[in-house]
Amino acid sequence: MAHKISTFLSFLTILAILGLSTAVDYTVTNRAASTPGGVKFNNNIGVEYTKQTSASATNFIWTTFKQSTNADKKNVTRVSVFIDDMDGVAYASNNEIHVSARYIQGYSGDVKTEFTGVLYHEMTHIWQWNGNGQAPGGLIEGIADYVRLKAGYAPSHWVKPKEGDRWDQGYDVTARFLDYCNGLRNGFVAELNKKMRGGYNNGFFVELLGKTVDQLWAQYKAS
Ligand SMILES: *[C@@H]1O[C@H](CO)[C@@H](O)[C@H](O)[C@H]1NC(C)=O
Repeated sequence: MAHKISTFLSFLTILAILGLSTAVDYTVTNRAASTPGGVKFNNNIGVEYTKQTSASATNFIWTTFKQSTNADKKNVTRVSVFIDDMDGVAYASNNEIHVSARYIQGYSGDVKTEFTGVLYHEMTHIWQWNGNGQAPGGLIEGIADYVRLKAGYAPSHWVKPKEGDRWDQGYDVTARFLDYCNGLRNGFVAELNKKMRGGYNNGFFVELLGKTVDQLWAQYKAS
């Protein structure tokens, strides 16, 4: 019996090392179901779609970050998505994603596509490294929008390439700059994220692309 147990434990260890035991549990809770936005969520988007899209977004993020084993990935086993009666658009913290029912209510275009883009952005926050808290907020937000861009969910109101004032302005501005950098070196964003596991400094741009981030920003603006 002891032998069987130890054989079983070795088997589990091997699975873990090979990264085969990847299983993420997604829960979706509409806590605003009695509000107009909560009703619109149920009618136009739905809990099942949100669960499926959470899983597809996660797979897309792992692929974009070139993370194929559990050792590469953040150790997250459950992500909880909430539709809340709150202001703003959405945020992620503590392996939770909160989306505003009021935002869903007020959105006049294709709300399912917009929601999907928001979910890709927030799901990236669940899985990305943040330089142990040292990375600029604009870079963190830029990487989340970069993933949204590459997934094909950039909304039409975003800035166009080369617009914006600073590389770390965040969101769409930084996403388009990162896309330019990734064009200079395929896999750049994946490598940058990987370096951001333990800390952060702007020298990462020099290490990966041979130029300072300010030189790269000037080159991008002039391109
Ligand atoms: C991952 O997290 C789970 C739950 O928090 C924990 O039980 C497990 O030991 C962790 N695995 C690793 C490899 O750190």
